[in-house]
Amino acid sequence: MNLKELEQKYFFRTYKRLDLLIERGEGCWLISKSGEKYLDLFGGLAVNALGYNNHYVNKAIESQIKKYIHLSNYFLQEPQIKLAELLIGITGFKKLFFSNSGTEAMEGAIKLARKWGVDKNKFNIISFNNSFHGRTLGSLSITRREKYREGYEPFLPNCIQSTFNDKNELIKKVDENTLAIVLEFIQGEGGIIEVDYEFVDTISNLRNNFNFLVIADEIQSGVGRTGKFFAFEHYNFKPDICVIAKPIGGGLPLGAILGNEKVADVFTYGVHGTTFGGSPVACAAGEALLNQIIEKNYMENAMKMGDYLKEKLRILQNRFPDYIKLIRGKGLMIGIEMKFKCENIVSCLLENYVLVNCTNENVIRLLPPLIITKEEIDFALEKFEKILKDIKV
Ligand SMILES: Cc1ncc(COP(=O)(O)O)c(C=O)c1O
Repeated sequence: MNLKELEQKYFFRTYKRLDLLIERGEGCWLISKSGEKYLDLFGGLAVNALGYNNHYVNKAIESQIKKYIHLSNYFLQEPQIKLAELLIGITGFKKLFFSNSGTEAMEGAIKLARKWGVDKNKFNIISFNNSFHGRTLGSLSITRREKYREGYEPFLPNCIQSTFNDKNELIKKVDENTLAIVLEFIQGEGGIIEVDYEFVDTISNLRNNFNFLVIADEIQSGVGRTGKFFAFEHYNFKPDICVIAKPIGGGLPLGAILGNEKVADVFTYGVHGTTFGGSPVACAAGEALLNQIIEKNYMENAMKMGDYLKEKLRILQNRFPDYIKLIRGKGLMIGIEMKFKCENIVSCLLENYVLVNCTNENVIRLLPPLIITKEEIDFALEKFEKILKDIKV
């Protein structure tokens, strides 16, 4: 049996995998077993911020595994502490907790909020239609995409849905019992949809009036992807809790909950924990990643390359108005909304050595490594243009 057949035999059918066997990666490129080079524009789903085979990340991992791979959170661990110091320094949050993944960070954030609100009689958590916050049951309770929720009921109580960017509906739903509002400032899975400035102002005013927590889900948008460290920085807004994951472990599993002074003393000994969260190897990789992002100005590159890419895509949109509906996003978190399902375009791009991901059926999602160059973007655009010229809808 070949690998594809073995996969079909052994795995639950949760993933529709690409028909492509990868040998290795280098920068923004993946090289297949048969030696073909593919430009990767979704970067391990926003994980590979520095692309593949980054020398500094690799060196940090190699050096840490020779010291210890795992100790447990009974020990003070230098790699964790160094990464924490960097993260707190960059972000201005007061305290953090390391998890293994995004959904675990969100679970922890929900628990942190609950402990904060329990003696204030605040229990209601508001999240928005089209949002994605993870697949464990707590995170799924606030994820508002039906296809991920169907069949998993019952969910956590006191989780309320409101419409993204609808301030009047939100005003009606917030009251003294509101514990938290959770949002992605740019909805990723939902099709790269940005929150409105006015909506953020409404959340800010409501928080002043009702004293609840705002939890920013920066799992996909965070760590420099949008040209700023966090997407919420584009809005001049500060959440109380922020969750990150994806790129922060340099490709290894790592997430974090970050909290401000309001929640800094809520967790006490033993009330939350994890065996693997904050793996020293992942933290060492994360430290190398953050140092690289800062030293090499990759956030600025994300902003510049994102603007360049969007400008060129808008030219294509003008040329192919029957195909391209909208270009959205900030930095290197970009959505191309097509006027039809984009599965076909994704396969055509794959045949032309460009890897993209399709979300929400008709949105091509671009999440390339932050190190991408103009030449690489031009390569992808040339292929995309060729496909648009040839395609029959
Ligand atoms: C915005 C957002 N929140 C949460 C998650 C869940 O993260 P993980 O897959 O690491 O559990 C994701 C993953 O795609 C995400 O994009």
